[in-house]
Amino acid sequence: MIKSIFYVSQKTVAWPDDGPDVEAITAVATSRNAILGVTGALISTDHFFAQILEGPEAAVDDVMASILRDARHRSVKVLADGNMRSDGSPSGPWPSRGVHRRSATT
Ligand SMILES: Cc1cc2nc3c(=O)[nH]c(=O)nc-3n(C[C@H](O)[C@H](O)[C@H](O)COP(=O)(O)O)c2cc1C
Repeated sequence: MIKSIFYVSQKTVAWPDDGPDVEAITAVATSRNAILGVTGALISTDHFFAQILEGPEAAVDDVMASILRDARHRSVKVLADGNMRSDGSPSGPWPSRGVHRRSATT
């Protein structure tokens, strides 16, 4: 069964000090998600994360259990949690993508 989760959370370290956290998260997410067949996208703003995860139900549940324990964010709010398609096929072969907004002003 293919599952998708969409959540938002609040960073415990805000921009501009969050760089090492975001880099470390992106690195582990890229490698672990690929191994598990999980795809999705992570958005990082100055104070918040938003992430969509899609993949085999057990894999998404494993990754999400790790994410919920992670001290680099708090107040995780799951906005959507469900199965994607009745035929069980994933929506596409895309790897995890990261989008990070930097302040436009200096
Ligand atoms: C906002 C956020 C998003 C994350 N996204 C992923 C992810 O997509 N895949 C992943 O494997 N780990 C992700 N992590 C890292 C996990 O929380 C965890 O540190 C990592 O998977 C190692 O798991 P473990 O601590 O259970 O060994 C994310 C962490 C945060 C704070």
